[in-house]
Amino acid sequence: MTQPPVISHPVAPRESAILGLGVYRPSRIVPNSEVVEAIDSSDEWIQQRSGIKQRRWATPDETIEMMSQAAAEQAIAQAGISGEQIDCVIVATLSYMLNTPAAAAKIAFELGTKHAAAFDISAACAGFSYALAVGSDLVRAGSARYALVIGVERLSDVTDPTDRGTAFIFADGAGAVVVGPSDTVGVGPVVWGSDGEQFDLIRQREDWRDVIGTPEQPGSGRMPHLVMHGNPVFRWASFAMAKVALEALDRAGVSVDDLDLFVPHQANMRITDAMARSMKLPEHVRIARDIAEQGNTSAASIPLALDRLIRDGEAKSGDLALFIAFGAGLAYAAQVVRIP
Ligand code: UT7
Repeated sequence: MTQPPVISHPVAPRESAILGLGVYRPSRIVPNSEVVEAIDSSDEWIQQRSGIKQRRWATPDETIEMMSQAAAEQAIAQAGISGEQIDCVIVATLSYMLNTPAAAAKIAFELGTKHAAAFDISAACAGFSYALAVGSDLVRAGSARYALVIGVERLSDVTDPTDRGTAFIFADGAGAVVVGPSDTVGVGPVVWGSDGEQFDLIRQREDWRDVIGTPEQPGSGRMPHLVMHGNPVFRWASFAMAKVALEALDRAGVSVDDLDLFVPHQANMRITDAMARSMKLPEHVRIARDIAEQGNTSAASIPLALDRLIRDGEAKSGDLALFIAFGAGLAYAAQVVRIP
């Protein structure tokens, strides 16, 4: 009897690590004083409730593609490779205005990859950690040698400037990392999940069919902005996310004492503080607080926040960091990483 052909998989499993980091911060700085009037708020309230002093909003030229490319070029240079060597491009975003094709395909072309696999991930503010987990596992399995992971947003396009619950929070920017093969584990196991029962807590207000309408039922004709029930999300993030973060440490076999850096999604300074308290982070762990200057940039916030720690001299190559990202979905993901 003839045996069925055996499928071969020539690449042996290997470890993965972040090899390079790059970011793009839009040129336009928007202080709280510029947003308060439209939402009947104050600089004091915004700083007290969220920790935000200013944010950056992209100009028309600072597109998703442009910001991604700028961040990616830095990450590729730091990794010491060329665009041609990238096998896979993963873009996490919620604010790319084309449903198809993926932004990743255009960015992969602009970076000079040789027809890299390219796709976008929709996991909102959890997007960067989701994409990093996928990119890292692709490298580990041999499906890609070098994966480029980008988190990028133009949330100013999808935020209603008169909405008190969101107008002062959301912002724009991009961050990218190159993930490649490594002799040691550079990206720990991901702990991730979602809670679709709370799907409506942060969402695009309506779907595109309701915007466009039908001959019988005219649509709203308005941009379907993000809407958020801030307080329930705040309570969920402050309590449930610390457990996820501790589980990621546990899965990676490290303790809070081993950590050098805590880089949570920059949603709200008070959420960051609540998580740090709940996890009992020791004093020596440096905590990313980029939200004060950058606002909440959703999928871009973790690489942007890490970049600031490095620039401020608070993080260095070889440091052990804990990433945790969370947001609409309610999707979340956490992993321990070694800083390149
Ligand atoms: O990135 C994705 C995940 N997102 C998050 O994790 C965001 C989570 N949520 C938050 O960050 C917070 O909920 C906010 C910063 C959005 C709001 O802070 P809060 O402490 O949850 O405020 P609240 O919504 O409970 O409102 C408290 C008070 C209310 O007044 P009363 O009822 O106490 O008199 C609001 O009407 O603050 C009032 N308020 C405002 N006042 C000035 C609400 N929005 C504003 C505003 N300016 N923009």
